[in-house]
Amino acid sequence: MKRYEILAAELADDIQSGRVAVGARLPSLRQIIARHGVSQSTAFRAYYLLEESGLVRSEERSGFFVAPGAERMESVGSTSMPLADATKIQISDLVFSVLDAAKDPGIAPLGSAFPSPELFPNARLLKSLTDGTRSLSPWSTVSDLPPGNDQLRRQIGMRYVGSGVPVSHDEVVVTNGALEALNLSLMAVTRPGDVVAVESPGFYAALQAIERLDLRAVEIPVHPVTGLDLNVLATALEKYTISACWFMTNFQNPTGVTLSNEKKKTLVEMLAQRDIPLIEDDVYQEIHFGRERPLPAKAFDSKGLIMHCSSFSKTLAPGHRIGWVCAGMFADRVQRLKLMTTLSASIPAQACIANYLQHGGYEKHLRKLRTSIRSQLASMEDSLARWLPDNVSWTIPSGGYFLWLQFPVEIDAMALHALAIDRGVSIAPGPIFSASHSFKNCIRLNFGHPWTTKLDNAIRTICEILVDPAVRNSSSGSSAWAEHTPTLR
Ligand SMILES: Cc1ncc(COP(=O)(O)O)c(C=O)c1O
Repeated sequence: MKRYEILAAELADDIQSGRVAVGARLPSLRQIIARHGVSQSTAFRAYYLLEESGLVRSEERSGFFVAPGAERMESVGSTSMPLADATKIQISDLVFSVLDAAKDPGIAPLGSAFPSPELFPNARLLKSLTDGTRSLSPWSTVSDLPPGNDQLRRQIGMRYVGSGVPVSHDEVVVTNGALEALNLSLMAVTRPGDVVAVESPGFYAALQAIERLDLRAVEIPVHPVTGLDLNVLATALEKYTISACWFMTNFQNPTGVTLSNEKKKTLVEMLAQRDIPLIEDDVYQEIHFGRERPLPAKAFDSKGLIMHCSSFSKTLAPGHRIGWVCAGMFADRVQRLKLMTTLSASIPAQACIANYLQHGGYEKHLRKLRTSIRSQLASMEDSLARWLPDNVSWTIPSGGYFLWLQFPVEIDAMALHALAIDRGVSIAPGPIFSASHSFKNCIRLNFGHPWTTKLDNAIRTICEILVDPAVRNSSSGSSAWAEHTPTLR
């Protein structure tokens, strides 16, 4: 995180914890500079970020104040609907229509969920597919059934241990991508009608899984700078019988935010007190721009309640569909569900990835991948700063390949999406990331593609569309954060 983001996160914490009350005046820029030893521009950018997120409002010549929006953010948990009034989720139609529109390969893929296929070591993988498959015994069709190829599970287990997460490969079940790992984990710990806590904004597949399994969701806000709101989670835990949580602790999709280790520990403790399983989606874990891979919440799990899900789809081989869940006490249950649903992950694909992890130079590839994606982020930031007006703000993540953009409240991201597609540009509009179709003035952008003039022009196109009256929604009167009232759905 940049210095101004850290500063904004600290100030946001003061506000959200109630240390600074709604309406109270915040320290002046001069006081912030003196207290935190930061430059004027850092102090200003921190306040700007807080203002854009709805936590702070500025008054000319008077300074900065805690905004009424912040009050609503704090009290969202206590204003949730009672369980009996819960509505089910209906997100799929919206998501499919947006994803379908972005399928055309000629479209500038800013709304895509995938990184560029050019970033993967496809030739070396082909060799691993040949070598790995050649060494398979005919018995592998039986022996590699769930929990999966033993070599692959051991390699995955070693990567956990190597990054400071002491788990055994016995907990690892190989799946068809992380998406299946997440879905099986959810099925393992819920029954129809149960309540699941999800992030808002959050990955739409969580909402689709909840919709499909006839569950109900309570949305917990994710702030683009400070991440999951643990105060609201605490209120939700008091208020509802929550059967499971489905959260991303690192490089969250769509905001890109990563929880601090302190927050991860607190989250794990809060859930452990009530024996609530956490389905931890950590698919972007390897795409970190700092020195080390951030720890997952799983690193702090002493009870085996965390099902840590990930895959090789984002870093190595999306088409092989190899993922896994390190499922703690639920490993047997997940394994059975895997056998009962899709039986097994592809056996040649498992052998290929196992061979690649042993001989292919995965670490070297990851270093190169991280460098490329980080430089793509820098190019996107330059382009955003060049083309977009000052009243648009965005996050600068420390990993993954998504950033989250917030426009002024009158901008309608769905209309922007429709006009952008017509002009050959895809974006992911904010409403697909929440059950209540909130975040109407936000979009997610993908920087997982090598930077080109086409992408720079795509950002310019977005800027041009912003002045079109069709994207200006006169009825919208609140920001994404002020309007965001997480309720049971
Ligand atoms: C947050 C998140 N989780 C899970 C997945 C699914 O991963 P996989 O392709 O390994 O199934 C995606 C893919 O877009 C994702 O963005």
